[in-house]
Amino acid sequence: MALCSAAHAGEKVWISLGDAALAQLQKHTTAAVAASVQARPAPLEGAAVAAAAAAEGVHLVQVDEDDLAKLSASVHHELRRCGGFMYHASQAEGLATLQRQSGAARRVTAAAATRPSYVIDQQSLVTPMLPQVQASNIGQTIIDLSSFVNRHYQTSAGVNASNWLKQRWTTLANGRSDITVEQFSHPNWKQKSVIATIRGTDNPDEVVVLGGHLDSINQAGTGESTRAPGADDDASGVASLTEVFRTLVANGYKPRRTLKFMAYAAEEVGLRGSQEIARSHANAGVNVVGVMQLDMTNYKGSVNDIYIYTDYTDSQQNTFVTNLIRTYLPNVTIGSDRCGYGCSDHASWNAQGYAASMPFEAAMSESDPYIHTANDTYENTGSNAEHSVKFARMALAYMVELGSDGPGLPDKVETFSGSLTRSQTKSFGPFKAAAGSTFKASTTGTGDIDLYAKRSSVPTTSSYDCKSDGSTASETCSINITANGDVYVLLKGYTAGSYNLSVSYRPQ
Ligand code: BES
Ligand code: ZN
Repeated sequence: MALCSAAHAGEKVWISLGDAALAQLQKHTTAAVAASVQARPAPLEGAAVAAAAAAEGVHLVQVDEDDLAKLSASVHHELRRCGGFMYHASQAEGLATLQRQSGAARRVTAAAATRPSYVIDQQSLVTPMLPQVQASNIGQTIIDLSSFVNRHYQTSAGVNASNWLKQRWTTLANGRSDITVEQFSHPNWKQKSVIATIRGTDNPDEVVVLGGHLDSINQAGTGESTRAPGADDDASGVASLTEVFRTLVANGYKPRRTLKFMAYAAEEVGLRGSQEIARSHANAGVNVVGVMQLDMTNYKGSVNDIYIYTDYTDSQQNTFVTNLIRTYLPNVTIGSDRCGYGCSDHASWNAQGYAASMPFEAAMSESDPYIHTANDTYENTGSNAEHSVKFARMALAYMVELGSDGPGLPDKVETFSGSLTRSQTKSFGPFKAAAGSTFKASTTGTGDIDLYAKRSSVPTTSSYDCKSDGSTASETCSINITANGDVYVLLKGYTAGSYNLSVSYRPQ
C-alpha cells in the first residue's frame, strides 16, 4: 500500500472528502461540516447504475492545514488507502465542486465539450510510430527528473524542475512554429505547471490533453532539501508523455485537433495545479474533447499490465482506451480498479465535465509501495522503463487517433500549363488524395488535348480510371477515392496545342 501525501503547516483551508475520511478527520479535530451532498463519482451520462452503487456522501469542511497531515496518516493506517480529500481555495469554490459532484449544477461546462468519434482508423500513422517509442528515453527522463532533490510545489528545486522541463520540451519542439511550450503560473505557490501545445491544422479549437504531475512529495516532511525523488510518482508519467511528444515531433506529425501535453504543479497537495488549469479551460469554454492522465506507470505490481480506473473517469472514453490497447498493443493485458476518491489530476477535469481516463500501473492495493518517500527511486522500479513504455505507446495511439479527426480539409487545387506537340504525352502527380473524396481534373487551352487519370500508377491511353477525349482542349474527368492513395494524370496532344490543367482533391 502506498504512503500518502503530507500536509504543510499553515492556516485554515477548505477541503472536501468522503464519509469514511470525514469519520477519520473527526477523530482528530472538531471540524464542522459546512455542506454535504450525495456524490455521483462519474459525471457524464450513462454511468448512473455504477455510480449509484458507489455513491458516498461528500462533505465540505474547514480545517487547519496541520490537521491534513493527521488526516492523511489516519486514513492511510485505518482505511488502508490514501488521503482522498480535495483542496479548495475558498468555501465558495468548495461548494461549487460539491454541487457539480451531486449533479445539481451539472453540465454548465460540458456544453463546451464535443464527444469525439472513437472509431480507430489511424493505423497508417500510429503503427509505424509505436516501435519508435523507446523505454531508454523514458528511463533517462525519469533519472533526470528524480535527480532534483525534490519537486515539491513550494521549494526552489520544485521551481527548477519546472524550468528544466520547459527547456527540455522546447528543445524537443525543434523550432516548429505550430508548437508552443509555456509555463502556467499559479498565484499561491511558486512551482509552475508546464504545457506544450501542438496547434491543430484544421480543427484547432478542439483540444486533446495528455497529462501527468510534475511535483513530488515526501510524506515525512517537506523542506527545501528533503529528498523526494518521485521516480514513479510521477516522474514516470511525465517521462512517458515526454516520449510521446518526442516521437510525434520526430515524425513531423501535424494533428488536425490541438494536442496539449501537461505537467501539473501541486498535485500532491490536493490536485491544486490541475484544478486551476481545468477550471481556466472551462471558464474560457475550451472544447476539450478528451483527457488522459498518466500518474505512476513504471511499477509492475499486478498480473495485468494496464489498469483502467473507473471512478472519476468517463466510461465511454475508457472503452475507447481499452479498444486502443487491444488494437495496437495486443500483448498488453488489461485490468480495472478504482481509487475510491479523486486520487489524481483526471478528477480535476472530470469535475469540470470533461471526459477523462486514468490508465494505471497496477491494481490499487498492489501499486508501488515506495511512493511519497525517499525510496521512490528508479532503482525500485527495476532501473528500466519497460512498464512505462506500454503506457507511452497507448498514449501515442490516443493522441493520434483523437488528434487526427476533424472536419474534412478543404480541397487542394493545383494548376499546370504548357504546350504539347501532336501525339506528345506528359504525366503529372502523384497527388495524395484522401479516402472519401473526389479527385477532379480539367483542362482548357488550344488545339485538341486529351485527359486521363488513374489511381496508383501513371495512366496510358489504354489504362485509366477516367478519361475525357473530346475534340477540343476542354476536358474534365473525376475519380471517387475510396482509400487514401496516389493519383496520376496524363495529358496527350491529339493535335498540337496548349493546356491549362487544374486538379482538385482533398489531401490526406
Ligand atoms: N499517484 C498518487 C495517487 C495514487 C496512489 C493512485 C496510489 C493509486 C495508488 C497521487 O499523486 C496522490 O498521492 N494523490 C493523493 C490525493 C490527492 C488529492 C492529494 C493521495 O492519493 O493521497
Ligand atoms: Zn501521483
